[in-house]
Amino acid sequence: MDTRTPMIAGNWKMHKTPQEAGVAAQKVKDLVKGVEGVDVMIAPSFVGIPAVAAAVAGSGIIVAGQNMHWEPQGAYTGEVSAPMLADAGATCVIIGHSERRQYFGETDDTVNKKVRAALAQGLLPVMCVGESEEERDAGKTFEVLDRQVAGGLEGISMTPDKPLVVAYEPVWAIGTGKTATPDQAQEAHAHIREKLASVMGKSLANATRILYGGSVKPGNIAELMAKDDIDGALVGGASLQPESFARIIRFREQ
Ligand code: 13P
Repeated sequence: MDTRTPMIAGNWKMHKTPQEAGVAAQKVKDLVKGVEGVDVMIAPSFVGIPAVAAAVAGSGIIVAGQNMHWEPQGAYTGEVSAPMLADAGATCVIIGHSERRQYFGETDDTVNKKVRAALAQGLLPVMCVGESEEERDAGKTFEVLDRQVAGGLEGISMTPDKPLVVAYEPVWAIGTGKTATPDQAQEAHAHIREKLASVMGKSLANATRILYGGSVKPGNIAELMAKDDIDGALVGGASLQPESFARIIRFREQ
């Protein structure tokens, strides 16, 4: 755990115009000045990336896309590629978010292609996995996580110089106010780490950060971060207000 730098990531989803995103990012930057030992990431909409990148320049805050296409260019109307993200100022990209899987036909196969393309571009992929409420109730949580981790990473040889971040986001906890308990999250994270070890080897799996996502707030971040295999958070709603996002980033002070 000590060797994994915590990451607190804000997924702004389809919120904030570029102008609003730039202002909010600047506030986050000011509010977390001096915080050490935490990687902070902000994922605005595609069109918000340049404004956010400009606002946080020099602060170490990581700027991410929320999705990307796996081809570098081509006739794919409405899509954005890894080189485009990088040129706009992103160094990281969220891949396979459950909202992409649920509403836009994302599959383990497209996640796999995107993770590959992100790594090839030198972007840090944040690969999202997580079970639905039905799957959890049917006792299939581990089976689903195994399939998503193995499918997303199939045929990819991971190396220490091109790391990956995994985000565990149980679908039933996203935007619902229902957070997984720290024990439930820890259990899933430990399972994911075991699966990662079988795919990429123990040492890389131990170095891989696994973030928890789903109704993370200033009031529950500390107890989640206290768990051995929880290395950070992917925050939706509570990242939209710079003050609450900054309180989450300052989890050690809670
Ligand atoms: P909420 O924090 O709003 O539940 O969203 C979680 C999420 O989907 C982050 O990617």
